[in-house]
Amino acid sequence: MYKVFIITVSDSSSEGTREDISGPAIREILSSYGNFSVSGATVLPDDRERLAREMTRLADEAGIDLILTTGGTGFSKRDVTPEATLDVVERRAPGIPEAMRKLSLDITPRAMLSRAEAGIRGDTLIVNLPGSPKAVREILDYIMSSVEHGLDILLGNDANCARK
Ligand code: MTE
Repeated sequence: MYKVFIITVSDSSSEGTREDISGPAIREILSSYGNFSVSGATVLPDDRERLAREMTRLADEAGIDLILTTGGTGFSKRDVTPEATLDVVERRAPGIPEAMRKLSLDITPRAMLSRAEAGIRGDTLIVNLPGSPKAVREILDYIMSSVEHGLDILLGNDANCARK
């Protein structure tokens, strides 16, 4: 079982003025994937240093295999999730956001506004997802099989790169 932690990034949800819908949506979607268990979830404001600190803690101390963030990847001046992610990853994994945007551009041209990143810190993969629950559903169904295979390789559970 891979341990997943969900970070919803939203000023208004962290202040309690807007309900977090995408975090619970990720949790629900992952419950249908046998090899992932959600260890926890949090809601944080669009604060680059706080986000970087929490991702570092989850990777270095909490033993989380996969950190999924949702929100904060667009063009608003407050959107800093990709920057916080790049602050903490040691190796980028650009194919994951490339795949997300390839899929999403067939659904909406607005997907070109996604600045999502993904990368590896130690034994932990971090992936930025958009903020909308609709987008989260569309994307997770597409990426999770390959994300699992990537974790298998990262963590030495599968040396064989068979096509899935
Ligand atoms: N991807 C999919 N699959 N479906 C969507 O509806 N919305 C986009 C995009 N990616 C969307 C999507 C929109 S409108 C924006 S502005 C960007 O993601 C950034 O989203 P964020 O600011 O919520 O992180």
